[in-house]
Parts: sequence; C-alpha cells; structure tokens
Amino acid sequence: MRNRLEALCRDGIAAVAEAQNADALQEVEVHLLGRNGALTAQLKGLGKLSAEERPAAGKLANEVKQALQKALEDRRAAIDKAELEEDLAGNGIDPTLPGSPMPVGGVHPVMAVARELEDLFSSMGYVVWDGPEIETEAHNFDDLNIPGDHPARESHDTIWMEDTPEDGRLCLRTHTSPVQVRALQKFGAPLRVVAPGRVFRQEAQDATHEHTFHQMEGLVVDKGIGVPHMLHAMNSMLEGIFGRKLETRLRPGFFPFVEPGFELDARCPFCKSGCKVCKGSTWIELMPGGLVHPNVLRAAGVDPEVYSGFAFGLGLSRMAMLRYGIHDIRWMMSGDLRFLEQFPA
Ligand code: PHE
Repeated sequence: MRNRLEALCRDGIAAVAEAQNADALQEVEVHLLGRNGALTAQLKGLGKLSAEERPAAGKLANEVKQALQKALEDRRAAIDKAELEEDLAGNGIDPTLPGSPMPVGGVHPVMAVARELEDLFSSMGYVVWDGPEIETEAHNFDDLNIPGDHPARESHDTIWMEDTPEDGRLCLRTHTSPVQVRALQKFGAPLRVVAPGRVFRQEAQDATHEHTFHQMEGLVVDKGIGVPHMLHAMNSMLEGIFGRKLETRLRPGFFPFVEPGFELDARCPFCKSGCKVCKGSTWIELMPGGLVHPNVLRAAGVDPEVYSGFAFGLGLSRMAMLRYGIHDIRWMMSGDLRFLEQFPA
C-alpha cells in the first residue's frame, strides 16, 4: 500500500507538471483526485488493512492528497501567468491602456440653479413645494385675481386641455403662481415657500421665448409683511446666484395678483458701461414681485385683515442663461448632448 501511494504521488506530480494548459490540467486533476480517481481507489483499500497498519497508511494517503493538491494549484497559477504573458506579448493587449469611458450624467443648468436656490431658501426657513403641471383654470387664473377677460387666458397664450368641461377647464400651468394658492390652502399662514417648476405657454419660439420653461415662485405670508421684506428676500437671492451683492432698483409693474406690483432690475453683472446682455442700458430686468393681493389671500382662506405677504416670480431658465452665458433659451429643452455635456455633475 505504501509503495502504491508513493508511486501515485510521484506519477501524479509528474503528470501535473506535463499539463500544458488549463483543460489538460483539469483532466489530470479528475484522474488523480476525482470521485473515480486514483487516490480514491487507494482510499477504498484502506478498509482492508489491519488495525495496526491503517493509521499510518491513512496519514500517508492524506499527505499524498495534499501534495497533489499543492502541485495542481502551483501548476494552475503558472499556466494562468503564462497565458497572460502570451496575451500581452502576442495578442496586442495592453492592460495599462485606459478603459472605455463610462457615460456619466450631468446636472442640467436649470436644475443646478434651482437646487442652489432651494438650499438657499431652505436655509432661510422656506419650504420647497410644487403643484401639478396640468392645472385648473381656477388655480391658474381665478384664485390669482386674474379676471375672466384677461388676455393671458386666451388660446394664444394658454395651452388648454381638450375635452374638459367649460366650468372646470384644465390647462398647462402658465406660471408657478398657482402654487402660491395651493401651498397656502395646504399649510395656512404664516408661511414661507418657494416653488420651482415647469411652465408652458403657446409662444412663437425664438432666442428668448420657449413654449416650456422654468420659474421659481416665492411667497411669504405673515403678520406685518411689507415691501422691505420682499426686497431683502430678492436681494439675498441675487447674491446667492451671482456670488456678490448687486445694485437693484424697483419699478412699478402690473400683475393682478399683487398690489403694489414691481419689476426688480439689477445692475448688469457683466459690464460697467453697457453690453449685449443689458442692451446698453447697464440694467437688466430680473424678476417681478409685489405684495400679495388681498383677493389671493381670501381665495386661499387667509384673512387679509390679519396677514399680509409678498410674492415674486423668478425666471429660472433666464437666470441660468445669465449665469452660464447661454444665449438661446431653445438649448434648454433641446436635449442636445452637445449642449448638455458642457455641464458635468
Ligand atoms: N407669475 C408671474 C408671471 O409668470 C410672475 C409673478 C410672480 C409676478 C409673483 C408677481 C409675483 O409672469
């Protein structure tokens, strides 16, 4: 028995050394250690030995098994290494070359500005809220004190949904202002909220007009809110976007849902004496705002005798254009990778 085991070990190691590739080695392994292999056959013989002989023979069989396993393992590593070297030398594979790039998404410029402003306003205690893009006529117009004969309601501006009843018409929201009412109805006063979102208008498209664009609504309702509070919020926002304080001015502006209403202009952040962006005037029109009209508070169930507020409507798309020097708004919704890939994450 001893001789046979020693022979098996010697011959086995020789066979392992002769195997030239992974398949051949596998065959040798099955032949030596497999269920019907040579070693198994020897182990079966152990039972026939006497009680004195058995322990020593068992020990030897175990040593032979380990020696064979070690030989197989070493040979497998050597074959793998040789195959790799052959690939490197002969097949032109260079593992030091950079891999093919994984496509990585970026952040759309409008979203980048929106996220920054959400962070800024959250830090000032505002909630970030949104409403539906398909809006009721009541929320988009009536509750905002926009009279029934207001031209914005007509089909040249508003995209109406087909087949909705006359008394409950639905449209694609033309601004984020309906979220003022929705948020107040949900949370009540006092409230600070910003509402970024997509809005839609039936517009002839050109470099500054798109049928789909983004706005961010701001609304603060509390006791004793006035124009200075509004100015502070607007100025902080501009400082957040442009990274420094800008000189601003208020002009009167008309929107049915604010009284008084304003347009906020800022000194052009790009020039001192007039440029293309400010059309030579050194001022750029940045956002409308005003004090919330009592009718809007009433429509939202808030008592205008107790509460007052301000609201503003920021053109997110326009802000992103100013910030990144984008000259045509149509790039924004174009989905064109040549544009989008310029804004990595
Ligand atoms: N909703 C208005 C628009 O889209 C902007 C606005 C918002 C004006 C809030 C005043 C106050 O034109």
